[in-house]
Amino acid sequence: MTNTFAFDHVQPVRSDVAAKPAAQHPQSLLDLPHGEARQSLLTVHSILETKLPSGELSIYEAGGGSTSFLPLGVLRRAHVTVVDIDEDQVNNNDYAQKTILGDIQTHRFPKGSFDLIICYNVIEHVPDVEAALSGFCEALKPNGMVLIGAPNPRSLSGIVTKYSPHWFHVWFYRHIRGDKNAGLPGHAPFPTHFHPLVSLPNLEAFAARNGLQMIYRKQYESPRYPEMRLRKPLFAALVDAGAKVLNFLLPGKTDVRQGDYHVILRKH
Ligand SMILES: C[S@@+](CC[C@H](N)C(=O)[O-])C[C@H]1O[C@@H](n2cnc3c(N)ncnc32)[C@H](O)[C@@H]1O
Repeated sequence: MTNTFAFDHVQPVRSDVAAKPAAQHPQSLLDLPHGEARQSLLTVHSILETKLPSGELSIYEAGGGSTSFLPLGVLRRAHVTVVDIDEDQVNNNDYAQKTILGDIQTHRFPKGSFDLIICYNVIEHVPDVEAALSGFCEALKPNGMVLIGAPNPRSLSGIVTKYSPHWFHVWFYRHIRGDKNAGLPGHAPFPTHFHPLVSLPNLEAFAARNGLQMIYRKQYESPRYPEMRLRKPLFAALVDAGAKVLNFLLPGKTDVRQGDYHVILRKH
């Protein structure tokens, strides 16, 4: 979809409308607390805006659900196709031009279909990440990019999420994050699998074997920490203290709070 603005009629400008600047950032970014996650997403946006071709874009959101993390300037000139396995998520989607109820592990598009594939907060939920990523490689145009946002399995939150039962994730979302809809049909948290390719070194090796260059890689403090510090300061202080102890005991400059990452891969 290309944005065109027609100025056929000159309307008197209402002062309240004139005072409102056009939205620059998606709600998903504005909802992130100030911190490393938001900063990295802003960097991702500027890379996408600089490196994507001009004109109309063809974008595939794998497991797109009902929220997009794309910059609005990109979204406004894109034809977006969403594939999601959850019917409620597909029905709640209001930004894609095309929605497909399907499985990203098996759904295939013709070769060279997309300028950008985005898979955000999804690969940790997928049992066969290799099958999904192989489909992305095929579906990308030359020089096309894949944006992946995922939890870091080698972090404190990654390990807790990986080894705790699903009911605990629902409890955390409801009582610590304050999300009353958590666990209801079509609402997070979704069951997690943590396939080995979710870990950054494995993902990087897969990319190199499959003709993809990692042009951006950033591990950052999970937005859950600043969220917790605001909502549940006592609980957050306990978790922060635990993280400090682990950082002290672990070798190197490990920060176990770096619970998430962004990666941008580019097809050669
Ligand atoms: C945590 S949500 C993320 C949604 C959206 N990308 C976001 O960041 O808000 C995970 C999404 O992945 C979808 N999903 C999980 N496994 C999938 C699969 N095998 N194929 C397609 N979608 C899948 C879920 O239905 C859900 O909508």
